[in-house]
Amino acid sequence: MDDAKGLRIVMVAAEAAPYAKVGGLGDVVGALPRALEKLGARVAVVIPAYGDATAGAHPAAPCREVPGFDVTLGGVTEPAGIFHAVMPESGVDVYRVASRRYFARAGVYDDPATREGYPDNMERFVFFMKAAVGLVARLTPPFDVIHCHDSHAGLVPGVILENYDRVPALARARTVFTIHNLAYQGVFPREALALAGIAPRRFYPGSPFEFWGKVNFMKAGIALAHAVTTVSPTYAEEVQTPEMGVGLDGVLRERKADLHGIINGIDYGEWNPVSDPLIPARFSALRMEGKAACKKDLLESFGLGATAKRIPLVGMVSRLADQKGFDLVAEAMPRLARLDMQLVVLGTGQQKYHDMLRDIAARYPDRVAVHLGFDNALAHRVEAGCDLFLMPSRYEPCGLNQLYSLRYGTIPVVHRTGGLADTVVPYDGERGTGFSFPDYTADALLRALQDALHAYSDVAAWKRLVRRAMTRNWSWDASARRYLAVYRKGCDEGAAW
Ligand code: ADP
Ligand code: GLC
Repeated sequence: MDDAKGLRIVMVAAEAAPYAKVGGLGDVVGALPRALEKLGARVAVVIPAYGDATAGAHPAAPCREVPGFDVTLGGVTEPAGIFHAVMPESGVDVYRVASRRYFARAGVYDDPATREGYPDNMERFVFFMKAAVGLVARLTPPFDVIHCHDSHAGLVPGVILENYDRVPALARARTVFTIHNLAYQGVFPREALALAGIAPRRFYPGSPFEFWGKVNFMKAGIALAHAVTTVSPTYAEEVQTPEMGVGLDGVLRERKADLHGIINGIDYGEWNPVSDPLIPARFSALRMEGKAACKKDLLESFGLGATAKRIPLVGMVSRLADQKGFDLVAEAMPRLARLDMQLVVLGTGQQKYHDMLRDIAARYPDRVAVHLGFDNALAHRVEAGCDLFLMPSRYEPCGLNQLYSLRYGTIPVVHRTGGLADTVVPYDGERGTGFSFPDYTADALLRALQDALHAYSDVAAWKRLVRRAMTRNWSWDASARRYLAVYRKGCDEGAAW
């Protein structure tokens, strides 16, 4: 249990549950630190302080060790306030970087009023990254590993190389960059580099900071971190192809030797039907009565009447973004509505999908119900109350909802891509845990759903399938050990602790 004893790790990210969560990034940065801590590491997390850090369900206090400092952005100086809290049920230090100018507002990336990204996201996140590096440099003792997540922490390795290469506390550290979603790269005008304090001479065609005449935070992270990871083995392969590399496949192929696919785990403290306080009745693989109660409750709260026949309830919980396959759902809808099933959708995101789902629900009121919003408790109830979970993502780096579904005995139906391919084993009547379709088409999706409905009609076989799905282990322990191996690789090379 002392594999990581003494190792000091700091994570830099835009989200960490329970403080800030838009999608799975928040779950991962909320859970992985605690899993690493269980293996003996000392872990800290740095995120922005959205809204008021001293208010809400998880208030923080002004940090005593580092109360705050000025950050220069180009020619302007902006104060950063630092708030500190300890993550629930752990010793993980969480530092939140406050700024009246950049973070004293409700949204994480998007303005809730417009559903569009804030116009000053470049300044907001360059400020955050510079403040995060400044904070890490001030905290003692120094960290061995600086683990940066996604584009909003992508410039961190570059900022360290450029401005802190003589600061022993930072120069010694290993940097690790994790790609959670290659589609969100953080591409901004060249001015971003000036704000970050990176010399203009670093910007030339093909440099880590240059991407078609602009600055790309994700590219810089991939190119400059000591090691790069992404959140499933299949996605690690996919991103190296021109089809799925979103313009960065070449950069990723160059880092092939240092690129690792590590599947996400589940935080069983939060997602466990045996103990979940957010669902109306609890259940386990051996005592399933509670699941029926959850289904009844869910149908009622979505305004779908319970049917006399045993028909499956299919659920979706998702950001409403192009990635998530709602175009396929819309295309399949007229045929889907003729199948013996009901569908509930919980989601929020792009306006066009809000409109589309509202329209579908209005057209098929006894078949489909939607809740447009972000509601964590309802997400738990959808996982618990459904029979099937639909995830037709166009691409999916890992995906957490299919893992939650497996745990809650809600059989996933997924597009066979990325982490979905790695976690859902096709059911063949005896083995397997779910249904997956290889082609990204409405026809393929419908075929997989039909297979699932057919399987559902065999009550005894279905029970066995559900039990098998529920007893699969997706805890963080094994994945945290893989991250340790990546951190340690630096050690073997003599660079880290
Ligand atoms: P992604 O990170 O691409 O959004 P994941 O499947 O990895 O996809 O993680 C999504 C996370 O966000 C899950 O924890 C899911 O329950 C949660 N989530 C997504 N949309 C909503 C919503 N509308 N309300 C509550 N939780 C949501
Ligand atoms: C991203 C991906 C998702 C992944 C999550 C956490 O948002 O879209 O597939 O599970 O990050 O790694």
